[in-house]
Amino acid sequence: PQPIIFDTDPGVDDAQAIAIALRHPDIELLGMTTTFGNVDVGTATHNALLLAELAGERIPVAQGAAAPMVKPRHPAPAHIHGANGLGDIDLPAVSGQADSRSAAQFIVDTVNARPGEVTLVAVGPLGNLAAALQLDPTLIERVKRVVVMGGSVKEGGNVTPVAEANIFNDPHAAQRVLTAGWPLTLVGLDVTHRCVLAPSHMARIAAGQGALGEVLAGSYDFYRRFYQGALGIDGCCPHDSLALAWLACPELFTVARGHLNVATEGPAEGQTLFAPEQREFIAPRWSQTPLADVCLGVDGDAVVEWITRTLE
Ligand code: BDR
Ligand code: CA
Repeated sequence: PQPIIFDTDPGVDDAQAIAIALRHPDIELLGMTTTFGNVDVGTATHNALLLAELAGERIPVAQGAAAPMVKPRHPAPAHIHGANGLGDIDLPAVSGQADSRSAAQFIVDTVNARPGEVTLVAVGPLGNLAAALQLDPTLIERVKRVVVMGGSVKEGGNVTPVAEANIFNDPHAAQRVLTAGWPLTLVGLDVTHRCVLAPSHMARIAAGQGALGEVLAGSYDFYRRFYQGALGIDGCCPHDSLALAWLACPELFTVARGHLNVATEGPAEGQTLFAPEQREFIAPRWSQTPLADVCLGVDGDAVVEWITRTLE
């Protein structure tokens, strides 16, 4: 199995992805690190601990970024993931506690203990990865790969016309992480918007996951109402699970290689910019930033089936 650290802000679609990370035989979940995003960071930590406990697993959860690096934090609108991040359903109590280390320290320690082996899968704002890079800049030599759910290259944004939420919520951190020069794959709205987890899929998942399934199904119902209202679709985009789908079945995706950057201010704040490797631009900065891989296409039905089969 591939050892990963899962950096997350649970979040309804985060919860689905956490369940996959806990259950999939080809993934070894070494720990979770939490960030503000869909909820405040304390709630994110609580939810990560809870989801692992409901799955019957004890894995380390280390708390991280409470706010963006530069701009002030605006609380997430509660009508998307609910005020508690899990669709405002009643949640059982948590017995475990967070790791004593910060998220960034946990990432540095865990990666350095297994050089070249650990993949960082990040599905929230990117402050924890930026902080880990700051603690140990040589980390880029020892991380196997960074897989980010975030951004959008052709699809447009979901918080502004051009910005995706995880990048918009901390554009300065995203800028550092996407241009750091470690092996990186961006899994953004270009592919997550091609996938719809329908009620029939969730029924199969709920039937297979016991107490965890109840939380996944209850929070899904809340998230689904948002999708019905905002996008007019019956179901929801399982954004964060796609980062794991790329890891487990990359053959379902088409990927382009090129230079990435992030707009940190102004009306395009949070926009992900992508210059394909073969294009030449006059401004020199484009050829100087390191190369990354960006998912541009996906077999959406196959990914949704993979998610459902993993959890049913
Ligand atoms: C991303 O934003 C969050 O609301 C979701 O959990 C996902 O990580 C989608 O834009
Ligand atoms: Ca998320």
